[in-house]
Amino acid sequence: MSKKEVTFGIVGYGHIGKRHASMVSGNGQGKVVGVVEPNDERRADAEKTEGCKAFSTVQEMYDAGIKPDVVNVCTPNGLHAKLALEVLENRSHVVIEKPMGLTKAESENVIYRALQVSKQVFLVKQNRYSPTSVWLKSIIDEGRLGELFMIQLNCYWNRDNRYYKPGGWKGTMDMDGGTLFTQFSHFIDIMYWLCGDIENIEGRSTNFNHPSTAFEDTGVVNFDFVNGGMGSMNFSTSIWGQNLESSITIIGEKGSVKVSGQYMDKVEACHVENYEKPELPPANPPNDYGDYKGSAANHHYIIQNVIDVLTGKGEIATNALEGMKVVEMIERIYEKIRD
Ligand SMILES: NC(=O)c1ccc[n+]([C@@H]2O[C@H](COP(=O)([O-])OP(=O)(O)OC[C@H]3O[C@@H](n4cnc5c(N)ncnc54)[C@H](O)[C@@H]3O)[C@@H](O)[C@H]2O)c1
Repeated sequence: MSKKEVTFGIVGYGHIGKRHASMVSGNGQGKVVGVVEPNDERRADAEKTEGCKAFSTVQEMYDAGIKPDVVNVCTPNGLHAKLALEVLENRSHVVIEKPMGLTKAESENVIYRALQVSKQVFLVKQNRYSPTSVWLKSIIDEGRLGELFMIQLNCYWNRDNRYYKPGGWKGTMDMDGGTLFTQFSHFIDIMYWLCGDIENIEGRSTNFNHPSTAFEDTGVVNFDFVNGGMGSMNFSTSIWGQNLESSITIIGEKGSVKVSGQYMDKVEACHVENYEKPELPPANPPNDYGDYKGSAANHHYIIQNVIDVLTGKGEIATNALEGMKVVEMIERIYEKIRD
């Protein structure tokens, strides 16, 4: 390999951890050298990758003399901050799957420590790379819609007992935290990225048909944007059979746009003064987990960004401050909509 190689560790070798590993291996400049996974079968599976050793804990990996340049934390949400801190203590850079943590306080601790040990923290917000998101960001930043009046986010997904398995972490308060963290944080991130922070939050939530989960499956929320304009969000994982839609509607002074589809991947409307929408490149398909589907399969962009930053060729696409901001917004929404 002529270009500088970046070595990766993967902590948590489940659905998304395996995807991270295959994206790293598929990138000519990345190599997975260590996997941390408590499950014996998955550890054995990880060791099938050439040059990769698997361990039960983060510390065991470092104690065995394996010190990856960067370690991707792909475990249940409730462990993200704790394990990211362990990685930073051992002086590797860290990539954290969404959400960064379940509280602003624990996300802040990761940032403080990363600054002290001079290591980078990357967040996984791969929906920002979708052609529709890139296009929305460009027209808003160019001011084409003028003042923003109203923004509406709709997230209607299916998560049923094919997803919430007895004994699993999904659906628990301490490891999952709620549908806004696990299913919809990508869309809150997109709204924040486009329109900024929110205030004056009101709303309510309920659990229609997920008796096994510790939290709501549905909510309606309204708020003001600190930059002006009002917004609302409807969300539910109680949609029958399959995901219905993830959409954002933006009503501005000089035009309105709506991006929808199951994964916020289609421009449904664009009526903007003196503007014709360009042809957008096709979106990547959603992550497919068999019985259910997730957000856009854009993880290769994240891995490329990590490699570019660590080889001095780029800047972090989603930094830790923005990751923490989204956690803080979700915390504030939950304070208002949960009993
Ligand atoms: N960016 C995305 O689109 C996307 C998609 C799916 C999941 N995720 C996120 O990825 C994370 C994992 O989700 P998943 O669906 O892969 O879950 P999963 O249950 O399939 O995998 C989690 C893995 O972590 C392992 N684990 C548990 N405790 C551990 C520990 N202390 N150290 C190391 N490994 C440990 C489990 O054994 C399991 O193999 C979650 O935070 C989720 O929100 C992100």
